[in-house]
Amino acid sequence: MLRLEKKVAVITGAAGGIGQEAARLFAKEGAKLVLLDLDQDALDRLANEIGTENCLALQTDVTDPEAMQQAVALTIRKFSRIDVAFLNAGIEGPVTNLCDYSIDDFDKVMAVNVRGIFLGLKAVIPEMISMGGGSIVITSSLGGLRGMAKISAYIASKHAVVGLMKSAALEYASAKIRVNTINPAPIDTRMIKALEEGFGPGAADAVQKKIQHGVPLRRYGQPQEVANLALFLSSDEASFITGNSYPVDGGMSAS
Ligand SMILES: NC(=O)c1ccc[n+]([C@@H]2O[C@H](COP(=O)([O-])OP(=O)(O)OC[C@H]3O[C@@H](n4cnc5c(N)ncnc54)[C@H](O)[C@@H]3O)[C@@H](O)[C@H]2O)c1
Repeated sequence: MLRLEKKVAVITGAAGGIGQEAARLFAKEGAKLVLLDLDQDALDRLANEIGTENCLALQTDVTDPEAMQQAVALTIRKFSRIDVAFLNAGIEGPVTNLCDYSIDDFDKVMAVNVRGIFLGLKAVIPEMISMGGGSIVITSSLGGLRGMAKISAYIASKHAVVGLMKSAALEYASAKIRVNTINPAPIDTRMIKALEEGFGPGAADAVQKKIQHGVPLRRYGQPQEVANLALFLSSDEASFITGNSYPVDGGMSAS
């Protein structure tokens, strides 16, 4: 039996590095998929690769409550249920000291990374309640468990979703809905490249070496390695696991 057979999974940030690998893996494990992101072209390419009969690709801004409700309504219309939500869309924001961090940038990061998760929870939980349960996996970060200089809004946002996860897990355990965060760092996607450039403008290679040196496994993680953890928590293999955070970070959180 495939690990997500007969399940319908909604993935946000599905056009990004981690989202795409999760979509491929979830599809391989039998899930029908609803792919949400801002980037419609990338979503369409991914849906064609996976097979459009088992896949709905919807350009959706996770910060927009109506768009999220509409995406869930279209999901129910096509697949009749939602079993899994991988709430994964996120942005890194600029790299700068807190006092120089603009209020606009702070609001943008919080809008995608916190409001986006809040709206995702509000949209999918009622459907899961009516189906008798489900699993929600939120992409936080190692930055949701510890601090880091110069990305204060990102760190605040990733801590905030750990709090949302705990509240949702406690409130909806009786409805058999499990909610957990995964806490990656550093993963080889567009985001880490942007952060390398932000931490060392024009010296991304040197920054990469320094970051990798700080990882006990001495390398970046691959998006597939994050997708593996998201799959496990989404599947029934994790049936007694809720309300907690799971690093996938090459050992960084051990020190
Ligand atoms: N790459 C890392 O090192 C790392 C580490 C820790 C946590 N994360 C988290 O993993 C998640 C995925 O990031 P990634 O590394 O795949 O980066 P990525 O930039 O490749 O993917 C992020 C995706 O989110 C989408 N997105 C952004 N704003 C959106 C919005 N308003 N509505 C819908 N979609 C939106 C983007 O279009 C993009 O496709 C993020 O939440 C990120 O914070 C990444």
